Amino acid sequence: FTFHCLIYFVCTISPPGTTNNHITQNLMSKNTVEYLKQLEAQALLGGGEKRIEDQHKKGKLTARERLSSLLDEGSFQEMDMLVEHRSSDFGLEKQKFLGDGVVTGTGTIDGRMVCVFSQDFTVFGGSLSEAHGQKICKVMDLAMKIGCPVIGLNDSGGARIQEGVVSLGAYADIFLRNTLSSGVIPQISAIMGPCAGGAVYSPAITDFTLMVKNTSYMFVTGPNVVRTVTHEEVTSEELGGAITHASKSGVAHFACENEVECLQYIRKLFSFIPSNNMDDPPRVQSRDDVNRREKALDSIIPENPNKPYDMKQVIKLVVDDGDFLEVHELYAENIVVGFARLGGMSVGIVANQPNVLAGVLDIDSSKKGARFVRFCDAFNIPL
Ligand code: HXC
Repeated sequence: FTFHCLIYFVCTISPPGTTNNHITQNLMSKNTVEYLKQLEAQALLGGGEKRIEDQHKKGKLTARERLSSLLDEGSFQEMDMLVEHRSSDFGLEKQKFLGDGVVTGTGTIDGRMVCVFSQDFTVFGGSLSEAHGQKICKVMDLAMKIGCPVIGLNDSGGARIQEGVVSLGAYADIFLRNTLSSGVIPQISAIMGPCAGGAVYSPAITDFTLMVKNTSYMFVTGPNVVRTVTHEEVTSEELGGAITHASKSGVAHFACENEVECLQYIRKLFSFIPSNNMDDPPRVQSRDDVNRREKALDSIIPENPNKPYDMKQVIKLVVDDGDFLEVHELYAENIVVGFARLGGMSVGIVANQPNVLAGVLDIDSSKKGARFVRFCDAFNIPL
């Protein structure tokens, strides 16, 4: 058993083409189980206590705390906990952190399997090295094999600058998997910190993107670079804050008040959708009688066709338990899209909104509607 343990962990620690002699030698000379426990304790600390404290001071949770809040209690199974980067440029060989800035694995949400990765800002700002990228690709491949969603919790400054083009290559591997997974398994991204470069290009091409107000940002590069290159003064919030992306660019589908709310939104969103494109969404017992009559529906729509009304009131009265999860609530408000249930079955709803711009279809509302219809079509959700 000890021998197998040893071989297994040495393989895990040493990515192909590298040696971790210091670790191997220690494994030989110490009590193996004790030593592995020490390594595990070290890995759990990510970039260290000081950086964890800084993360908390900014009102942010750590990568592991986020996973605890997202997943069913005790369900998380971690992979590749002891992986390190393998770069020796710019003195990086002296700066190694177990896990290399991303926590990956599987877990469950309401008993249903999901694959997850959660970037750790306390390690090199959550930036993506070759090894970090390979950990993410491994969990994305696993999700495709078993047919479950990939949920990415992003908190990263993008490509790890010190690794240069090797890091960019790792992003290409992730983008490829994003496109191959599209329409096969749901891909959900939460932006939970200042994310730049490649750290936003991948989330932007997934099915749903959630952001946290005031602490999360999505930009190609930050305000300092924008100032240097274009002489334009812009705040982080204007350039890529949650409200900007939820209302102006349409990149974010949800803008949440805080991180815990954001993680709860992911759980709720997942309750309406299937695990893959061969599966059906879970059925939920409704408290409403399907044959009920809603009197208010008789009077919401005004006699005068020139008068507007709020379509959301109509939707809430028709669907089970008044439970409507609106998607893209702040973007192109002249059309309303979202998930609800009828007789316990998930449905997607697309509705004109007479209250905004008389419900006209323009470019933004057409794109919003089409994107939502495409998702429902791929994942067996009636419209
Ligand atoms: C290596 C990085 C890093 C990166 C941050 N850090 N980004 N290390 N590579 N990309 C490190 C910092 O050096 C710092 O380390 C720690 O993380 C925290 O960063 P701070 O700057 O102190 O934090 P904050 O003030 O909150 O600002 C966060 C930030 C900023 C907005 C993300 O760090 C930033 O602008 N980073 C660079 C963003 C960028 O240009 N990325 C694009 C990469 S190119 P120390 O040790 O000092 O605390 C790319 C292209 C992909 O991604 C193309 C794919 C094909």
